[in-house]
Amino acid sequence: MPRTAAAVFAVLIACLWCSPALCAVGRTRQQLNYRPIIGVLAQENLPWDQFARGSSYIAASYVKYLEAAGARVVPIRINRTEEEYAKIFNSINGLLLPGGDVDLQTSQFSRAAKIFYNLALKANDAGDYFPIWGTCQGFQQLTVLTANKNLLTLTDTKAVALPLTLTSVAPSSRLFRNFPKDLLRSLANENITANFHSWSLSMQNYSRNAKLRRFYKILSTNSDGKKEFISTMEANHYPFYAVQWHPEKSPFEWVDKPGMVHSVSAVRASFYTASFFVSEAMKNYHHYPSPDEEDKALIYNFSPVYRGFDAVFVQNYYFD
Ligand SMILES: *[C@@H]1O[C@H](CO)[C@@H](O)[C@H](O)[C@H]1NC(C)=O
Ligand SMILES: *[C@@H]1O[C@H](CO)[C@@H](O)[C@H](O)[C@H]1NC(C)=O
Ligand SMILES: *[C@@H]1O[C@H](CO)[C@@H](O)[C@H](O)[C@H]1NC(C)=O
Repeated sequence: MPRTAAAVFAVLIACLWCSPALCAVGRTRQQLNYRPIIGVLAQENLPWDQFARGSSYIAASYVKYLEAAGARVVPIRINRTEEEYAKIFNSINGLLLPGGDVDLQTSQFSRAAKIFYNLALKANDAGDYFPIWGTCQGFQQLTVLTANKNLLTLTDTKAVALPLTLTSVAPSSRLFRNFPKDLLRSLANENITANFHSWSLSMQNYSRNAKLRRFYKILSTNSDGKKEFISTMEANHYPFYAVQWHPEKSPFEWVDKPGMVHSVSAVRASFYTASFFVSEAMKNYHHYPSPDEEDKALIYNFSPVYRGFDAVFVQNYYFD
């Protein structure tokens, strides 16, 4: 074998089996990881959840959302040591921070999110591509981690479907640039993004905070009639993405409430966001030390609990 071919072969082998640093060097567009595994962070059970078992949960809609776009899911439990989280970080290809209702500075959810966020910053700085997606509370958690303080403000956005006001940079953004043009038009013109949040990052507080301004570019905004808030953003220099709305609800949650939309374009928007994020995770080559450890970590080892047709999450996974 000629020497250059041998070198390419060696890098390829290194990519499949060795360190993330080597992988980043040897990677080309063609060499994607078509078996991505995405971690979804659990959070403290709500005190009034009559179906709760153990101490934490993941809404199953987030799992289905990623699975439908070609990823497998590993639940990341709260209240674990930094060593355990580092081990998981080095085994998964991306992280999703879901919606929910816990404290963004004192909860075990926020503690784990911070550990993973810092690991992801470090990894990406070293050329190891590690994407993070935040939805609703996950969006809010990312703003708190980046700003290192809570800059959120109350808005009247508890159960309403809105059309995105796309910014001028949205069509060229990493997140939106490969969306079908008619879908972007639907997102801009139809009320298809589900909003279920009391807190928002206003344009005002974003603009006044240098850390946030430097870190994120704004892809869309919305308004509750009084305050303009950020509904979609992506980081400038990291593969981090955040939506204040809920793409996972349209295909997978069925509570009959204002703000819930199941139209064809809403379901398509859901799929394209998930597919985008999974394609980002395909650029990462972390893996479990052995097939056996991978097998034990996957969500398939757990069963979701059906919580009823009128529950805000139709199925949840519960963890000790
Ligand atoms: C786990 O939770 C317990 C009880 O809340 C706490 O005392 C302990 O410090 C936590 N451990 C970690 C690693 O966060
Ligand atoms: C800005 O952030 C502060 C918290 O530091 C918050 O109290 C305030 O309501 C926010 N204002 C706007 C307009 O978002
Ligand atoms: C659609 O969104 C607009 C805001 O752009 C809002 O004024 C209107 O009430 C929404 N309609 C419905 C049916 O939710």
